[in-house]
Amino acid sequence: MSQQILILDFGSQYTQLIARRVRELNVYCEIHPFNKVPKLTPDVKGVILSGSPCSVRDNGAPSVDMSAFEKVPVLGVCYGAQLIAHLGGGNVLPSQMREYGRARLSTLNHHNDLLKEMTLDTQVWMSHADTIAAVPSNFEIIATTPSVAVAAFKVKDKAVWGIQFHPEVTHTTEGKNLLRNFVVHICGCAQDWTPDQFVESTIADLKAKLGNDQVVMALSGGVDSTVAATLIHKAIGKNLHCIFVDNGLLRKNEFQQVLDSYQHMGLNIKGVDAREKFYAALKDLTEPEAKRKAIGRTFIEVFDEEAHLIQDVKWLGQGTIYPDVIESVSVNGPSQTIKSHHNVGGLPEKMKLKIVEPLNTLFKDEVRIVGKTLGIDPTILGRHPFPGPGLGIRILGDITADKVRILQEVDSIFIGGLRESGLYDKVWQAGAMLLPVQSVGVMGDERTYERVVSLRAVTSTDGMTADWAHLPYEFLANVSSDIINKVKGVNRVVYDISSKPPATIEWE
Ligand code: XMP
Repeated sequence: MSQQILILDFGSQYTQLIARRVRELNVYCEIHPFNKVPKLTPDVKGVILSGSPCSVRDNGAPSVDMSAFEKVPVLGVCYGAQLIAHLGGGNVLPSQMREYGRARLSTLNHHNDLLKEMTLDTQVWMSHADTIAAVPSNFEIIATTPSVAVAAFKVKDKAVWGIQFHPEVTHTTEGKNLLRNFVVHICGCAQDWTPDQFVESTIADLKAKLGNDQVVMALSGGVDSTVAATLIHKAIGKNLHCIFVDNGLLRKNEFQQVLDSYQHMGLNIKGVDAREKFYAALKDLTEPEAKRKAIGRTFIEVFDEEAHLIQDVKWLGQGTIYPDVIESVSVNGPSQTIKSHHNVGGLPEKMKLKIVEPLNTLFKDEVRIVGKTLGIDPTILGRHPFPGPGLGIRILGDITADKVRILQEVDSIFIGGLRESGLYDKVWQAGAMLLPVQSVGVMGDERTYERVVSLRAVTSTDGMTADWAHLPYEFLANVSSDIINKVKGVNRVVYDISSKPPATIEWE
């Protein structure tokens, strides 16, 4: 990576957003926790200090040694600005009232490099409980709002700035200008971190790193693993061995369709039919975590067996993306495990494999853009997320081949309907759950006593929080009657109207 901005995270909910905005300017940046500052290499062109839920006045408040950044420009955002003022000898006090929401810059120094081409009265977004009451004598105030005396400052003899508002949220109308002023004009970044450049340099790096080594990788049909495999394939061709496992819990016809499209892409892929093995491992299990663990364990067994058939494998390829990496080193620590997500964890040690993760610096939307640059089929790139344990966690209670077949039919009608109605791309994820409940119905003159399915569709940006999708009644009505008419064994359809939190997206 030739140039980058270092973002130090003090725990703000907006830190990732700062990174996204900087990257939208085609400048590469990385987030690191404030207490694990990496050594500043010459490619670091500037540092941004994030916000924080803490107060600089708290005992043990997060802090940094500013002398580490003397050679590069620094921008403090919210808490970051308060920290710079506090460490410089200024006074940070609780605000008379919590300053939250929209405000307007009532004075603005246009001559200052940070605020160039910003307009007086421009709207900014405030979210802070403390305020900078007094700045040290070597600080110059460069913007104010009617209620915030120090909305922005510059340290006179240094390339150090602080802003009380959040340039990264869209409510700060000219926030992008300000960030551009900082990263491009002040730090001198070239704006050459483009998808084409990423693809080119990643393939070159992979070639150098992997040489003639053999790499094994599990594909899921999802966006991340597909894009990661394509990059590795472009670097080492047939030395990448892809494995796609049919766990018997995939969507209807998915195994063949995905296998075909991978073959069409030229990947060296092997499809493994392990349905019976999974059903045997799941037999009589009803408890969600027990089912997840059984699916995870069986997957590792199948994958391990297949991987051992390949001679001299040295690497395990993975589609890990940046949010997973940030999460694992975050200031707040990895979030509590609500559900155990299955992956190939444990395998690398067991097989003594090194790990290669070409996407571990990218956000999800950037992965999609890179996928597009690589020419990957848009239907693969636009696919909804699908959980590793598949329909296994959408069939409540024990799993049988027959229940899988029923749910596959229901899911296929629902997803097909979304596609036909142009709604598929409007929701973040959709699927159906088979409930362990039977209800009475009437078909013709006959009483029925059959299964209930629940449809679930959500809107979200990252799956961490989600709202139930407000699908049109007309659409739901059509899908419901289609399902009941066509899927034998189902006589009732309900729609899930729970948001996350407090519910989760999957039912198990
Ligand atoms: P929840 O149910 O926790 O799901 O709200 C959030 C997102 O994660 C997906 N999910 C999984 N993905 N392995 C995965 O690869 C898993 O075990 C797993 N469990 C849930 C879920 O589909 C949603 O997109």
